Amino acid sequence: MKCVDDFRLVLGGKEYVPIVIGGMGVDISTAELALEAARLGGIGHISDAMYMDVSDRYFDTDYTGTKAQQYRKYIPLHNKTDVLFDLKMVEEATKRQVADVMERKRGDGMIFINCMEKLTMNAARDTLRTRLSAAMDAGIDGITLAAGLHQNTLKLIEDHPRFRDVKIGIIVSSHRALQIFLRRSAKLNRLPDYVVVEGPLAGGHLGFGLDWADYDLRTIVHDVNRYQEKEGLSIPVIAGGGIFTGSDAVSFLEDGADAVQVATRFAVTKESGLPDHVKQEYFKSTEDDIEVNMASPTGYPMRMLKKSPALAIGLQPNCEAFGYLLDNGSCPYLEEYYQEVAKDPDNHFMVKTQKTCLCTHMRNHYVWTCGHYAYRLKDTTHKLADGTYLLPTAEHVFKDYQFSKDNKIALPELPVPPFSG
Ligand SMILES: Cc1cc2nc3c(=O)[nH]c(=O)nc-3n(C[C@H](O)[C@H](O)[C@H](O)COP(=O)(O)O)c2cc1C
Repeated sequence: MKCVDDFRLVLGGKEYVPIVIGGMGVDISTAELALEAARLGGIGHISDAMYMDVSDRYFDTDYTGTKAQQYRKYIPLHNKTDVLFDLKMVEEATKRQVADVMERKRGDGMIFINCMEKLTMNAARDTLRTRLSAAMDAGIDGITLAAGLHQNTLKLIEDHPRFRDVKIGIIVSSHRALQIFLRRSAKLNRLPDYVVVEGPLAGGHLGFGLDWADYDLRTIVHDVNRYQEKEGLSIPVIAGGGIFTGSDAVSFLEDGADAVQVATRFAVTKESGLPDHVKQEYFKSTEDDIEVNMASPTGYPMRMLKKSPALAIGLQPNCEAFGYLLDNGSCPYLEEYYQEVAKDPDNHFMVKTQKTCLCTHMRNHYVWTCGHYAYRLKDTTHKLADGTYLLPTAEHVFKDYQFSKDNKIALPELPVPPFSG
């Protein structure tokens, strides 16, 4: 029986271990996590979601405070059209973080950045162009276009000196989405270097409706490959969503995928940016604790633990500080929030809403998004005497994907007990 290490992903003439750790915003796929994937010969993602705020945490900047102060007077106003990001600051924050991770990169792998189109930041084109250009300026190896069809994205950066050398890929959930993207990319004579085919069992936002259970990753990978054959294309396909063991990965690599994209198992590693108590909630979860709902204001369904605090607490929007989902001065959460406040004008704080305020909630790790198989995480490690689960390292999980066979999962080594003689 084969293991993942018997395969290689070839990109730009170079070979990589065919394991890609998917982007997980906000700062769940940390620089540390991505660096481990690159060190071990695979591909790691950072995510540029809410990068100004992430920068404040790591680099002692105060972008969020400065923006909040600048737009204070808009707090009572419903229309946030004028609450804009300073593009110079977006550029600076992105460059600093990408340069930092690229300087620290070791090993033969690569580091990509996950850029979501749905992060409209109240000036969709300008902010996306700035984010992508700054990441390329700072030396990122590749850009994975996510959460959107990205029909106009390549055009935004076609003049960048690295446009043809940086690796560019797109996440799709159907061959039709790929077809739409390719029509545009063909006009610029710039095919993507890889395509991530994400199925309905993934974490984060899903490229399906609430009928997600009617779809399956393997069929979509076949569709994409058939479509490529018909068009005479051979863009490497990276399959993701519900690939939980090395053997799952092998079955996709034998069945037309060039690599796999995995995330949920890395979300609970030491290097992941989730707080430790949230990692424990992931381990403890059962199948019944996980749902796909429409609570995200992006309009995409999202998979998460039902216990996510974001589903219980409605809160006053803070678009002056954040505003990452604002589009033309509003966002579906904002609209719903003000409708609810109009019904009960004395209550601004504990408003019950269907949508969540994704910026504030993601930033505070109150949205516990996960892949469908999160309930199996408890089988990947040890339960300790105090009832908590041992956090594996990213290296352990990476190597388990790379070398395990026969549907086995290698458990991490238990820490040596302290000497008590
Ligand atoms: C906690 C978490 C956060 C995620 N956030 C993002 C994101 O910000 N952008 C994105 O494109 N995909 C996101 N995803 C999807 C992953 O990158 C990946 O493609 C998918 O989850 C792989 O399936 P798996 O989790 O079953 O391994 C996220 C997944 C998880 C588990």
